Order: sequence, then structure tokens, then C-alpha cells
Amino acid sequence: MQGKQDTAQPVAMTAQDAQAPGAGRRQFFRVGGLFAAGLAASSALAPVASWAGTPSTSTAQDIAILNTALGLEYQAIAAYQVGAESGLLQKPVLDVAVKFQSQHKAHAEVLSSTIGKLGGTPVMAKKPSEYGFPVASLKTQADVLEFAAGLEKGAASAYLGAVPQFHNKDLAKAAASIMGDETMHWAVLLGALGKDPVPAAFIA
Ligand SMILES: [Fe+2]
Repeated sequence: MQGKQDTAQPVAMTAQDAQAPGAGRRQFFRVGGLFAAGLAASSALAPVASWAGTPSTSTAQDIAILNTALGLEYQAIAAYQVGAESGLLQKPVLDVAVKFQSQHKAHAEVLSSTIGKLGGTPVMAKKPSEYGFPVASLKTQADVLEFAAGLEKGAASAYLGAVPQFHNKDLAKAAASIMGDETMHWAVLLGALGKDPVPAAFIA
């Protein structure tokens, strides 16, 4: 039945999607029939699901989770901008930071697009100064790397918490894919700091 708001078409990620940085990635969160009738009536969002709260039971709650993720991505983009502009990062670390920022931009793009396709309103990015970053304490490259590593660890943890909260399993899969990327970022930054890049068998 097409009219049910929570019925989704399969949105499996293909290998091509996973490798293509452009159009393929934008199709990553294809949501097919999610927008059939009924969704518009849910503009009064149900209580927003927190990362660690009860599982979503509606598309509206999935949208809320996606918006939380989008906010985190915007925060990361801003953080890498601060790091890149600090003058403290030397090549090749600077190049790595810019690359990671571009991947966060890719995450934000698909999250925002998906929220829109689901009938939601994507949150907006703040100004870097509005995130309360500890800019004054960033005095060395290692300081910046520690700061970024902490955010990456937090992002991986946030996505880990989000995955089982989604009502739509395709969104859970997509979030798990991003979680993998965030975990790689964290590991690379730990390595750049001279720390064990894979400190444990599990992330939390
Ligand atoms: Fe990241």
C-alpha cells in the first residue's frame, strides 16, 4: 500500500554509490516512496528522539535524528575550518584535515537532502564562533589534532547511538556507513598524534 508514511522503497547502497563522491553519493539516501501521502500531516513533530533515547517510531522522528546528525556535521565542518585557518597545521596534516572536512561536507549534503526528501526542514549551520570551540587553547598542531580527534570520537559515538534508533533501516545503514568514516577519521588523527590508532576492539 503506497499511502503509508513509513513504508520505504529499498535504498541499498551500491558499490558504485560508495565509491562515487558526487552524484552517486547524493543518491545514497534515496527515499523512494517515503513521501507518499500522510507525511505532510506530521508537521507537528513528535517528541524529538535523542541519540540515546527510545527508538524512532515514525519518519518524523527519523528526521529529528537526521537533523541532530546534520548539526554535528556542520560543527565538524566549522571545526576543521578553524583548524585549517589556525596556521598550526603543517602539510601533510593540513591536507588530511581539508580532506576530512570535505567528507563532512559530503555527509552534510546527503543528510540535508534526505531530510528534505522526507518532508523535514534541515537545520542550518552556525558561524564557527557560535560553536564555542576552545580556540584560545589551540597553540600547536598537536592541540588541533587532539581537538579534532575528540570531535571525531564523539561523532563516531553519536552515529553508533543513532543507528538503532532509526525507524527506517535504510537510514540506519546509511548512518552506519558515515559512522565508519568518522571512525576512520578518528583513527587517522590518533595516528598523527603518535597514539595507538586502534585502541580497542569496540567503539562506544
Ligand atoms: Fe569525521
